[in-house]
Formats: sequence, structure tokens, C-alpha cells
Amino acid sequence: MPNLLKIKPLALLHQESQEEGEHTLKRSLGALNLITLGIGAIIGAGIFVLTGQAAARHAGPAVALSFILAGITCAFAGLCYAEFASIIPIAGSAYTYGYATLGELVAWIIGWDLVLEYAFGAATVASGWAGYFNSFLQQLHIYIPPQLTATTGTPLVFYHQQWMPVMSLPPGVSDAGLPHVTGLFNLIALLVILVVTAVLVVGIQESANLNTAIVVVKLAIVGIFLVLGIAFLIHHPEVARANWHPFIPPRDAQGNFGMMGIAAAAASIFFSYIGFDAVSTAAQEAKNPQRDMPIGILGSLVFCTLLYIVVSTVLTGLVNYRALNVADPVALGIDATGVTWGSLLVKIGAIFGLGTVMLVMLLGQSRVFFSMSRDGLLPKWASEIHPKFRTPWKSTIIVGLVVAVMPAFLPIDRLSELVNIGTLLAFMIVCAGVWILRMRHPEMHRPFKTPLVPLVPILGIVMSLFLMVQLPRITWIVMLGWLLLGLVIYFTYSIRHSKVQSLP
Ligand code: ALA
Repeated sequence: MPNLLKIKPLALLHQESQEEGEHTLKRSLGALNLITLGIGAIIGAGIFVLTGQAAARHAGPAVALSFILAGITCAFAGLCYAEFASIIPIAGSAYTYGYATLGELVAWIIGWDLVLEYAFGAATVASGWAGYFNSFLQQLHIYIPPQLTATTGTPLVFYHQQWMPVMSLPPGVSDAGLPHVTGLFNLIALLVILVVTAVLVVGIQESANLNTAIVVVKLAIVGIFLVLGIAFLIHHPEVARANWHPFIPPRDAQGNFGMMGIAAAAASIFFSYIGFDAVSTAAQEAKNPQRDMPIGILGSLVFCTLLYIVVSTVLTGLVNYRALNVADPVALGIDATGVTWGSLLVKIGAIFGLGTVMLVMLLGQSRVFFSMSRDGLLPKWASEIHPKFRTPWKSTIIVGLVVAVMPAFLPIDRLSELVNIGTLLAFMIVCAGVWILRMRHPEMHRPFKTPLVPLVPILGIVMSLFLMVQLPRITWIVMLGWLLLGLVIYFTYSIRHSKVQSLP
């Protein structure tokens, strides 16, 4: 009779983490690689795309407060991730932590849930990337057939030499009389996922080096946005005063804005923080995971939180929040400073920057499948390592192909809400896991200790749940449907092939 709560022994996890040879992942990442891996995963479609939508639809300039709220939630979860990553330095992240503490069934649920985070996350970012890339091409007067630049059924109009979704038209501009087409599928998003997949198959070291280079470019361009934006606001304080007033727009008839709007925006821009936990999926490729994992996770999180608060404040100072519901709000922001080359630069930054996010998300997804397959919960091919590249190439390719199709047909806001709910659920389980492990194994050596247990895990759970509750009902239904599908697979396949079940 299988034991659904069977725990994977920590001794076995440690043994796996020590394995070396051509069938194992290559340990090549240092602390700096891990911080840049984190920043590479974190700064992406969230700040470059969703901030605009969240300000325009939910919070107005108070979106900066939403960033603080979401950042605090992530800090509690990040402290718990850091403890786990230091004691269980194995690829697989929350899935592996769940296996070691809460048993196989919970581990399976987290592993399956992480698909929502990583695979759907990469798809969301691909969608944001396509928006910036298309806008960049159009600025150079290169036009891809507009039907191939948007998801099925999206109404597009031609305005100011650009094809754009009708809903992105500036406030007060009517679409009557403008040329219209309807989106068929997003070819750009599909192709970019295929390219990133190819990079990942070639190798982790190559991927990490490419990531570091791009992170530098991405940060430099966000820095330029801030310098130009702050300089403009200092010289035109009346613009800032007008745009920041009212800082918290009053609640409207549809129930948007006001205090609840800040919470709703926090649940939406929570997406911008996702990625610090992806650092932990690379634990088996880190040279000194016990020391460097907490540095990578917490270092990248703190840095990005501060950056986001400043960027969102400057953005809503430059452009009135009502006009920010566009595919490339940061470019719009820099346009407002009057620097004509600025928006082209921002678009180039976003194009490279969002690329690294997809890279880390897809890396995370294939590593989670790698771990689940090694445990027997998924078929064996998912953990096969390429003898030359030393990467789990089959799972990388299959994940890439499936992910490539998603953003072609599904819009970015729906995708991102699913990613958020899936990630928040994983956060809750990780927080609970830290607490449970402390009670079961208080004596265990913990290179990094989450402070104030159980207060920090409890706050992490409560705040994650609070953000989940802000998300629409349809997102909950899809998540529950997804988890149900996962349970069917678990009970029909995984439980029979599980290696841990056959341990004495
Ligand atoms: N945090 C990542 C982004 O914003 C997922 O794109």
C-alpha cells in the first residue's frame, strides 16, 4: 500500500547533491552568477509591462505602495526559501523541499504547481517581449502582418504609425475611423521561446554567462530611465505634482482604485518579483550552494524591491496613470521626458532583459521536471542528461515546445494571473515546510536560518493568501483544474513508479 505522505530522506538528498560525473549537472555557478541569475529572472515583464496596466486599471500612482506590499510578502517567503536552499542544495526548488518535509503527495502538488510558475511564467514574459519587440520594429517602420502579433481575437487599430490593441489607445482617443484588424496568433512570442530553448540546450555555463552580460545591459537601461526621468521631474515639478495627485485615486463605480485597488495591483505586479526563487532551482549547479544560495536569493530580492519602488514612482510621475495601459509603458515614460532616443533604448533593454527572464524560467521548469523524473514521478526521459552539453536536453526541448504555443494564443494578463496564483501557493507550502522541519528536526545543521520562526513563515503564508484572494475567480478555477489534472497523473502513473515508495 503506497504511503502518500512518504518523505524523501534528507540523507538521500545530500547523497544526490554530492554526485558527480557526466550524468550529473555541472557545478559552475558562483555567488555573483546566482545574484545575476536572480536579477535576470526578476526584472522583466512585471516592471516593463504589468506596472503600467496595474497603475492604469487598479492603483494609480499608489502602485508604488503595491510594490511595497508585494515586496514584503516575497521577503517573508524569500527568507524561508533561503533556509531550504542552504540545507537542501538540490535542483528542484520547492518541489524538493516539499518532498523532504511534507511527503510525496504534497511534493507532487508543488512540482505540478510550479509548472504554473515557470512554464506559464516564461509564456507570459514571451508575450511581454513580443509587445516590446513589435513596438521596436514599428518604430523602425518595419511591419510584421499585425494579425501575427497578437493573440486570437484581439482587436487592433493603426494609430500614430503603430498597430496596437484598441484598449491601449490613449484616453479620449476613439477607434472609430481607424484601420482595424483582428489578431490571429502571436508568432513573435512563439519564435522567441524556441530561440531561448535552443540556448538552454547548449549549456548552463553559456546560459549563465549570457545572462550576466544581459543583466548588465538591462540594469544600465533602467538606470538611464531613472536618471532621465528624475532629472525631468526635478525640472518640471508641476508635471509630477499633477500626475501624482491624487496619489491614491478614489474607488470608482467598477470597484477599482482606493485601498482595495492597491491590494489588487499588488496581486498583479507580484509577478515582477517572481524569479528570486528560481535561483534555488539551480542549486545543483552552484559551486558552494550552502553559502551562495541565500546570498543569491535574498540579494537579488532586496535589490529589485528598491529598484521597483523607485521606477514605479518615477513612471507615474512622468505619465498620467490613465495613459499607462500600453504594451511598453516604460518606453512611454521616457518619451515623456522629451529625449527622442530614449524609448528606442528602453525597448532594446526590454528586448534583451525579458530574454533572460525567459531563460531562467525555462531553466527552472526543466530542472523541476529533471528532479521529478529522477524520483520516478515523471518518465525517465525527463532526466536524461546530454553527454556533451550536460543539460537535461529532452525535458528542455519538450518544455520549450509546449511553452512556445501558450503566449501565441493566450493574453498576457490572464497568463500572469495564473503564474501569480501558482507561485503564491508554492510560497505558502515552502513557508509551512520551514516551520514543520524546524519542529521535526530542530537539531539539523542549517547554514542559513530563517529568523523568527514561526512568525516569519506564518506572515509569509497569510500575506500570500491575501494576495491570492485578490485574484479573479476564473484564475482560481483554472488553478484548481490544473491541480486536479496533476492528481490524476499522480495516481495513475507517478505513485507506481516512485522510487521513494520502494525505499524501506
Ligand atoms: N519577475 C519576472 C518578470 O517580471 C517573472 O518578468
